[in-house]
Amino acid sequence: MKALSLSTALLTALLAHPAGAEEGGPVSLAAAQASADATVKQMKPEEMTILTHGIMPLALGGAAGPIPADAIPGAGYVPGIPRLGIPALKETDASLGVSYVGGVRKDGATALPSAVAQAASWNSALVYRGGAMIGSEARAKGFNVLLAGGVNLMRDPRNGRTFEYFSEDPLLSGVLVGAAIRGVQSNGIISTIKHFALNGQETGRKHVDVRISDAAARESDLLAFQIGIEQGQPGSVMCAYNRVNGHHACDNDYLLNKVLKQDWGYKGFVMSDWGAVPGVEAAIHGLDQQSGEQLDTALFFGDVLGRKAVSDPAYAARLADMNRRILTAIHAVRLDSNPPVPGGKIDFAANAQVAEEVARQGIVLLKNADKVLPLAATARSIAVIGGYADGGVLSGAGSSQVHGEKGPAVARPQSAKEGPFSSFFAQQYHRSSPLDAIAARATQAKISFRDGRYIADAVEKARQSEVAIIFATQWTTEGLDVPDLSLPDGQDALIAAVAAANPRTIVVLETGGPVKMPWLDKVAAVVEAWYPGARGGQAIASVLFGETNPSGRLPISFPASEAQLPRPKLDGSDWVEPNFIGEVGPENRALTADYDVEGSDVGYRWFARQGQKPLFPFGYGLSYTSFESGGLKMSGLSARFTVRNSGTRAGDEVAQLYLVSRAGTPKRRLAAFSRVSLEPGARQTVSVSIDPRVLADWNGHGWTMPGGDYVFALGKDAETLGQPISIRLPAKSWKD
Ligand code: BGC
Repeated sequence: MKALSLSTALLTALLAHPAGAEEGGPVSLAAAQASADATVKQMKPEEMTILTHGIMPLALGGAAGPIPADAIPGAGYVPGIPRLGIPALKETDASLGVSYVGGVRKDGATALPSAVAQAASWNSALVYRGGAMIGSEARAKGFNVLLAGGVNLMRDPRNGRTFEYFSEDPLLSGVLVGAAIRGVQSNGIISTIKHFALNGQETGRKHVDVRISDAAARESDLLAFQIGIEQGQPGSVMCAYNRVNGHHACDNDYLLNKVLKQDWGYKGFVMSDWGAVPGVEAAIHGLDQQSGEQLDTALFFGDVLGRKAVSDPAYAARLADMNRRILTAIHAVRLDSNPPVPGGKIDFAANAQVAEEVARQGIVLLKNADKVLPLAATARSIAVIGGYADGGVLSGAGSSQVHGEKGPAVARPQSAKEGPFSSFFAQQYHRSSPLDAIAARATQAKISFRDGRYIADAVEKARQSEVAIIFATQWTTEGLDVPDLSLPDGQDALIAAVAAANPRTIVVLETGGPVKMPWLDKVAAVVEAWYPGARGGQAIASVLFGETNPSGRLPISFPASEAQLPRPKLDGSDWVEPNFIGEVGPENRALTADYDVEGSDVGYRWFARQGQKPLFPFGYGLSYTSFESGGLKMSGLSARFTVRNSGTRAGDEVAQLYLVSRAGTPKRRLAAFSRVSLEPGARQTVSVSIDPRVLADWNGHGWTMPGGDYVFALGKDAETLGQPISIRLPAKSWKD
């Protein structure tokens, strides 16, 4: 897709998706821009800085003043200009549902599984449905901006926000986030894509300076954003907390002006992350709106910006452009003529089904020795151990935390300290008990539950039972990375002891991302359920008992140890001071993260380059049936092959096509993928086309593919590749 078509495509699709819009047809691109221009012309000087900044409409104390009467408790509020018919922007988090804002909102919302769980479905149509569902709830609650679309590449599995992101691959991430954004915006509201860019860790998130070359960035993290923007056309891009090559991401001429607006032709607006604006110059460097202004050191995009615009034509031109961009996004989805009205009806039962379907398709079966799974409904005794499985399923914390209709089943505070953000950080379990869902399916079994706190007690129960199912949890949160990839709270010892007592031990993981499994050889089965959302317990049980044939595939490599990572020690992890939400920590201490170590070889590409074997590779996942893929034929950048269900159950396969080498040099890249549903014995021909950017290098001005032999192979995963085939492609260079 070319830059020229991007800007047009952006607005066309912004305009084309007001599914929640009842009256009138889509607004044309020309009409949205013309309205924006006309409105800017009518704005009085003192009105020019109304849309350029907003507050958190919460009682945080400080100098923000009273909260306006029409604000809804949520993440953000930007006042409108009633005289000109411009609505206020009412913003809520996030990608997994309408968040509960630290306990302020008690009205319930449907929690999707974590984004990494969504991505494990490799199913963009399903991810679209999830986005449409959470967007409809945002709209029903009166919000017109959803702070969704987290798409930072998973460069480090210890990142506390891994659960909020899609994958380690730019193609998979870009396609899926695009689908999620389209779904959200189908409700006639704006979605963001975030956090632009290279926000790869939470440790020192406001200080860390990410060093990376232009080429490496364009071929990895930026490519994920580029594809996501092309396919999702979000009204807004949220810039990130971190610095990139010395400059704050929200005050970064290279990222915002050069890459996003100039090279990609983006016409929407850039909003800051909350508390990420260093000064008024950010306007010149491409930032359009200051969000959550109480969290910054000053309000820069109000009077300060207004005064600059009076004396400096560069600021005056930017101020007009900032308003034009915000208004174009508003007009494009008709926020003005078709505003959300609070108090809309929400069908929680129907929405929970969407969440459950996402969980079912995102659960990954990692091990299944001797076909211990699926469990027979006739099992006579089952020991269920740990993970609050009697209450619910774990969720990730921070600004994306969602509360279900009756709040969480269990909430464990993580800090004894009081403070405005303390309620953001609690271990919360959604009300969907795996124990109950198991009991409902194994009606003839004696089912015992042990919380797992006493190993001997859990072992005794496991010994007495036919099967032991351990629920192991790793809680993660925005603002805090995990120090290593082990399961916390002694769970490794619990699992090892239970597995020693019962060879039919099944481990169900509810984790933010990858964990190490020192007990892997001892257990019979491992199921990665991630944070499985509002109906996670049901989804897990349906996989355990075979109603759902597992079809999830890992969207992130599971390393065997931290030593395999590009940065075995996480930068900043040796800080003496606590670093909660990346706020506390010596302001003046230099913290850099050198992403040029791996460059664009993130995740499986790094493992391939290093010749290292992870614990489980990217793309990996088992099924209760078996699939055979073959007959790969390539013609230019189109590929065709067949997939056959060679087993005895219906199931879904995620066909994966990888570049293996290019012009004689090894180069592992996910080139294309397709999810296929097949009855036993059925076969399907699959056609995919390859985005050439995935095969290319960034040359400083555009993309280059060297001429030569390109070797491709179908993969069960990024490591287990089938028969390679080679095609000769001519040298080619093109502008973005
Ligand atoms: C997060 C964003 C979020 C914002 C508003 C920030 O701390 O990084 O993802 O949208 O808060 O809650």
